[in-house]
Amino acid sequence: MSSDLEFIKSKVDLVDFLKSYLHLLPAGKNLKGLCPFHQEKTPSFVVSPERKIWHCFGSCATGGDAIKFIMLYENLEFPAALRHIAEKLGIVLSQASLRDQREFGVLYDIHEATKFFFQEELAKNEIAKNYLKERNLNQETISEFELGFATGGEALTVRLIKAGFAIEDIVKAGLAHKNVHGLFRDRFSQRIVFPIYNSVGKVIAFTGRLVPQLQNSNYDIEPPKYLNSPETPIFNKSKILYGLHKTKQEIVKTKSAFLVEGQMDFLSVWQAGVKNAVAISGTGLTEQHLAQLRRMADVLMVSFDNDNAGIKALERSLEVFSRFDFHIKAVNLENFKDPAEAIQAEPKFFETALPKARPAFIHLFDYYFSKLSDEPDLISAKKRIVRDLLLKLKVVRSIVERDMLLSELARFSGVSAVALEAELANLADIKTKEFIEETIKKETNPLDRINLIAERLLVLGFTSQEFYDIIKINIGFMPFAYHNLLQNPESEAAGFFGMKASYASGAMDESDARKEFQTLIKNLELEYLKKENENLKEKISLAENKDEDDNVVFLLAKFNEISKRINELNYEET
Ligand code: CTP
Ligand code: MN
Repeated sequence: MSSDLEFIKSKVDLVDFLKSYLHLLPAGKNLKGLCPFHQEKTPSFVVSPERKIWHCFGSCATGGDAIKFIMLYENLEFPAALRHIAEKLGIVLSQASLRDQREFGVLYDIHEATKFFFQEELAKNEIAKNYLKERNLNQETISEFELGFATGGEALTVRLIKAGFAIEDIVKAGLAHKNVHGLFRDRFSQRIVFPIYNSVGKVIAFTGRLVPQLQNSNYDIEPPKYLNSPETPIFNKSKILYGLHKTKQEIVKTKSAFLVEGQMDFLSVWQAGVKNAVAISGTGLTEQHLAQLRRMADVLMVSFDNDNAGIKALERSLEVFSRFDFHIKAVNLENFKDPAEAIQAEPKFFETALPKARPAFIHLFDYYFSKLSDEPDLISAKKRIVRDLLLKLKVVRSIVERDMLLSELARFSGVSAVALEAELANLADIKTKEFIEETIKKETNPLDRINLIAERLLVLGFTSQEFYDIIKINIGFMPFAYHNLLQNPESEAAGFFGMKASYASGAMDESDARKEFQTLIKNLELEYLKKENENLKEKISLAENKDEDDNVVFLLAKFNEISKRINELNYEET
């Protein structure tokens, strides 16, 4: 694979490649854009065409090459990402690489073969087919999502071995395990199976649901209703959203996604014509899920139970949703337990429920204020509710959205928007951004301090040749670690500072930069001299102990000279 890897890397024009995913604008030698891996308003995603790498200087602080980008962007493991790029570029991977990819490739192949086998089994099993009918899934949906049936025992294992797969690989794929008697048994048994796909539509796992009519009542412990594949090299549970390979385009087109809880919910709403849904299955909702969705959609629709527990669940999720700056809409399920049941009872349920979805906060306002009339002490109850809701509003990132919600809250509560805003300001604990200069002042460890100064200087140095030259003149004051970098501007480390500089330069005003640079150069020398004097003090006391008078005099003269310079620098205007 390594030769293919090098080949692909040499073929990728990183800038062109990334431009098919992101909007990039020139920033000096580099390019800059909004990072797709976290929410931001000012660009911190920097691409170096020269070095063929990208780096996010914002909160996610990740970086890498085209392959790393695809791994993160498409949620693929390394070999799949490589293949994805190869396909995109029309590169045929070599035989050698196919052999090398065996470890991963075979896992995909096993899943593909398994999927077909399960489909055959379903076709033969009337009870399982009936169950799906009972659940209102039609043949079209069943075929489209390639549902199957796992007979169990060792049916699948035997079939896969006959097809030429090694038992170790079948176990690695999570489809068989050794039982207490040392025999290999299928993982899924007497279950409807739903293939789980990655975002490019490859089967990477399965989830199996019990069929009530086939349930063996002899069990001591009740088996789980749903059983999932274990994590494998190709299946990372916390990343996968069920159905996304089919609904991605619609989600991007409509900028909104309907988030449901299970496969059955997903398939039911899909069949009912909702083409922008995704399901979290098995695991709870993770930040990785949300980050992935956020790149596609602005609006996230979530359904909730219309009771107190449902409201609490909605409230809990608002904070994490808001962290991703989603506009959350609440879909009222009325008295149905989940979307599948709603559709079962009323096939057109979502034709009206989705358009009626309200911003989640409006739903909360409505819920709390409608209960207000039950309260004995109206004023104190209102005060408490307003305060609680304001605290919740604090998580809303968008200022515009927050303003609109405050107006709504004013409408519901009868408290003026101005008063609400003042109260909110009181409640807000605004964390001011830490600027590097402040950090420099605060840092107590002189070593850290001089390194911080040096790093910031280099960033500035890479925005301007003039600064760079001045730094080189002052190289003697720089910590040793940076000397090499300054002498080899083509080195990798220097490239990194170049990218960091592209990141910083947009937000920088030229005269501010100049002022900062001068302050830093001065502080660099100061820190250097202070350290020199610390060393001298030690040498002086050593010399004194040894009664080396001449040396003491010499060292003291040096100490005084440096102290004078320190004083000069301290009183110098910059
Ligand atoms: N789930 C799971 N393991 C379980 C139970 C549930 O992985 N033992 C997951 C499934 O993906 C399921 C989702 O959690 O779809 C929601 O669980 P639940 O509401 O209990 O199931 P439903 O989606 O309603 O499933 P069904 O309608 O088939 O009963
Ligand atoms: Mn259900």
